[in-house]
Amino acid sequence: MFDYRKTNNEGMPGTKKHYDSDSELQETVEATKYCEGKDEPNIKDTIISLLKSTGRENINKVIDFLEKNSFFDAPASVQFHNNFAGGLAKHSLEVYREAMKLNEKMNLPVTSVTLCSLLHDVCKHDQYVMSEGRPTSIPACLKKGHGLRSMFIVTRGCELPLNYNETMAIWWHMGEHENTKDLYQKEYEDACKIPLCKLIQQADSIAAHR
Ligand SMILES: [Fe+2]
Ligand SMILES: [Fe+2]
Repeated sequence: MFDYRKTNNEGMPGTKKHYDSDSELQETVEATKYCEGKDEPNIKDTIISLLKSTGRENINKVIDFLEKNSFFDAPASVQFHNNFAGGLAKHSLEVYREAMKLNEKMNLPVTSVTLCSLLHDVCKHDQYVMSEGRPTSIPACLKKGHGLRSMFIVTRGCELPLNYNETMAIWWHMGEHENTKDLYQKEYEDACKIPLCKLIQQADSIAAHR
């Protein structure tokens, strides 16, 4: 089993390098704009622009994955929020916006907030599809998991290096409802103490229940 606490590549989820602190990351905070309203040509372009503005190593691999795996076309659910074509991307951008609002008081690294908010639900890219104009779930893909799966898609599938807080924030964005909680009780308790986890959980909840 991987040890996500390690600060080098050894045992980490497929990353070339695991960053232990935000100071090690290429920070392009000023370039990461809070996009809204007339500055937004469309949701897909805005999300891609925000991801690129992080300057994170391998971010283009993530963007490539999103474009080739229905992220921008998928609904976010069947019965609940954003259950229409493009709903997943819309929800992701709304979580980003709520997270940025919350971060005005919390002052967490903008790059971390941007990556975690936009990528927290990447696991849904194949879990919900539009079929004959209706949102439909794919049970075999739903079984693959949620927060932990998003984290693995990003870090192993796309080789995006995340620091510890970012890894935990994507994994535990559902809080106590994450379906790996019973197996990883200690990790859940650790996540509860991380401000970035709380921020992403809150932003996700606000965006999903508005
Ligand atoms: Fe989620
Ligand atoms: Fe979400």
